[in-house]
Amino acid sequence: MVELIIAFGSSGEHLARAVAKITRFSVTETETRRFPDGELYVRVMGDASREDVVVFQSLGMRPDRLLMEYCLIADAVKGMGCKTVTAVIPYLAYARQDARFRSGEPLSIKLVARSLEGAGTDRLISVDAHLHRLRALKEVFTIPTLNLSAMPLLAEYYKTEFGVRNVIVVGPDSESEQWASTVAGTLSTEYSILNKERLGDRDVEISGSPSVRGKTVVLVDDIISTGKTLVGAIRKLRSKGAKRIDVLTTHALLVEGALSLLRKAGMSHLVSTDTIPRSTSRVSVAPMIADALREWK
Ligand code: R5P
Repeated sequence: MVELIIAFGSSGEHLARAVAKITRFSVTETETRRFPDGELYVRVMGDASREDVVVFQSLGMRPDRLLMEYCLIADAVKGMGCKTVTAVIPYLAYARQDARFRSGEPLSIKLVARSLEGAGTDRLISVDAHLHRLRALKEVFTIPTLNLSAMPLLAEYYKTEFGVRNVIVVGPDSESEQWASTVAGTLSTEYSILNKERLGDRDVEISGSPSVRGKTVVLVDDIISTGKTLVGAIRKLRSKGAKRIDVLTTHALLVEGALSLLRKAGMSHLVSTDTIPRSTSRVSVAPMIADALREWK
């Protein structure tokens, strides 16, 4: 039987404790504070020497600070002499900068991968990592990686709570096809993909002519940040006669009043996971992560 020790950073506690409850793996606490000049201090309590340690940290909202905190914790348990460090990073920030779009830009996701590895991470579990121009995490990581998907769980929840009558699944842009097709598969329904042109951080243009007249649309995306992508999609779908629009997403960052913008645009329900805890988190990824940890030898 696999026995692991669970540690967590400040954005990983809810999932770390939920997974520990399911698996009965023991949890070790971490003391975290800031020095007067802003540097972070961490100290992992307990003895992780000769153990396989899992460190939970989601990188939503304050990604730079949370990444640094993760690296310090990973280094701390490595320094104690632990056998392996598994990173559970349900929301992997910086994955959208997966190319140098313009001269002078960094390849951010690769740098994040190198930072996680440099801190001593031996393997990584993430959830619906934003794979767009990359086809797999192994294109930027050298350690073993597992990219779980919450889309079947979101779709099952939707089926149970709302039913599937006269439903079509829609994705707002080309990269969402992977998530929309999975949801459509679970709901046994058709799907359609819109086109997105990004004009700025808070400005997108959505085009396309989906056949949605009189239908309930389940709009699917991996991340909602400002909500502008889905607001654009909702407007397009309403102009094409959609009767009702519900949204499923894995990572509900929901910055700058995104939830109220989505409601104002005409969204009926938003269902998200707890990779980032929100009032819309109806589906927990903890059981799926627990299974992955038990099965991934
Ligand atoms: C990028 O293509 C992602 O899949 C999302 O569509 C995007 O991050 C959403 O961002 P926002 O809510 O700010 O439009």
